[in-house]
Amino acid sequence: MTQPKILVARAVFPDVLVQLAQHFEVTSNQADERWTPDQLIDKLQGQQGVLTTGSERIDAALLGACPDLKICANMAVGYNNFDLPAMTAAGVIATNTPDVLTETTADFGFALLMATARRITEAEHFLRAGLWSNWRYDMFAGADIHGATLGILGMGRIGQGIAKRGAHGFGMKVIYHNRSQLDAATEAQCKACFVSKDELLKSADHLVLVLPYSAASHHAIGAPELAQMKPTATLINIARGGIVDDVALAAALRNQVIAAAGLDVFEGEPRVHPDLLALSNVVLTPHIASATLPTRRAMANLAANNLIGYLINQQPLTPLNDPVPFV
Ligand code: GLV
Repeated sequence: MTQPKILVARAVFPDVLVQLAQHFEVTSNQADERWTPDQLIDKLQGQQGVLTTGSERIDAALLGACPDLKICANMAVGYNNFDLPAMTAAGVIATNTPDVLTETTADFGFALLMATARRITEAEHFLRAGLWSNWRYDMFAGADIHGATLGILGMGRIGQGIAKRGAHGFGMKVIYHNRSQLDAATEAQCKACFVSKDELLKSADHLVLVLPYSAASHHAIGAPELAQMKPTATLINIARGGIVDDVALAAALRNQVIAAAGLDVFEGEPRVHPDLLALSNVVLTPHIASATLPTRRAMANLAANNLIGYLINQQPLTPLNDPVPFV
């Protein structure tokens, strides 16, 4: 019996390839070459499934050129690299990797908040540069985390994880804004209070962005929003580049409109805007919020099991399409 063909578009854990090879004829990219959209289309000819990451764009043009494709399994919870309506219209299943990365990503959001507010990377660079000659009363004095007001924009699973860490671990007052208000029981677990976006911007000492990227959230934080924040405030983005207007943010950081920012995601990443690179009051990390070995392994396994679940058993585990197209 011939096995379905799949493409693994980026390098993955070798044992995931071994698992996939039990069910599929696998073409992989363990050299982790970055393919152009045309090269991806070329590699997808004759393939029924593909394991993608956020770097591979699946849109109507690609779908039209890859008629055998039945499923795209993203190894990420975010899926703004997918044109979901076009996939549903083409009868192509889209899946992502929810839940398995929630706590790890919330940990990182908190780590980035602490590093930013307490100026940890800036202080380390100073020390490594041999500039530490004496103790000084205001040397790298930052902002307190404990007891401060934590604002969260986007209160899904990861936002809730960050809220719980702030409220229960650090005695923070937690406020949030979201498309819809959480039910009372979830709000109580997170000790979080729903507020308007304006109120969130005005009141947060530390504002963490955890909302999905879409046309509606493009530049949700730009110059007007930054101007509403406290001059002592910290902004953290672990969601997606493009939610923050990076040029406006760099100007706000340069002009002390806000105190500091921690960014794990960027507009047009892996490029980072030079205005941000020039500043010391911003902590920059290369999109690693879910990067622990157990979590990345769980994400890879879930993406692989979505391919097996759909192409072998007609049952994807975490489909995104609404309605789900059938084989
Ligand atoms: C990472 O950014 C993800 O969406 O999983």
